[in-house]
Amino acid sequence: MKTIITKSEIETINSGREFSLNIRSGTTVALSGDLGSGKTRFIKGVCDGLGVREHVSSPTFTIVNEYRGSTLKIFHFDFYRINSAAELKEIGFEEYIEGGGVCLIEWADRVQEILPDKRYDIIFKLGNNESERIITIEELKPV
Ligand SMILES: Nc1ncnc2c1ncn2[C@@H]1O[C@H](COP(=O)(O)OP(=O)(O)OP(=O)(O)O)[C@@H](O)[C@H]1O
Ligand SMILES: [Mg+2]
Repeated sequence: MKTIITKSEIETINSGREFSLNIRSGTTVALSGDLGSGKTRFIKGVCDGLGVREHVSSPTFTIVNEYRGSTLKIFHFDFYRINSAAELKEIGFEEYIEGGGVCLIEWADRVQEILPDKRYDIIFKLGNNESERIITIEELKPV
């Protein structure tokens, strides 16, 4: 488990870029935490690190955005409006997870039960002032 405190949006983007070095084909990253706590900014950095040149933003009206990195395909989900695992089954979420792409999931804790056991959990918290964020990264592995 690793905790990072960032003091600006740029530092959060840079943390994401650094974290992207851990990502391989099939990696799932579950991001959770308060509104405006930096999940999308962090993902921007991750995508940049993976060689994505397209615009990265939360898939608000669709459930998933797809980007092409230099070697990997990236799926960016936002579960904010998802209320049940059944809704995710409908969009074929499991196929994304098993398909070898990289899955980056905002508000992942809304539907915990559908997440793979092997994943990274990243928790975002607002810090002591407007521009501080506390980011905790944990690698989960099935026993
Ligand atoms: N240290 C920081 N790291 C990241 N963002 C910061 C930081 N300080 C201030 N900000 C601001 O906080 C906001 C973070 O927005 P972002 O969309 O990344 O959050 P989010 O967690 O994805 O929100 P949502 O829950 O709405 O999806 C931005 O407006 C950004 O400028
Ligand atoms: Mg977001």
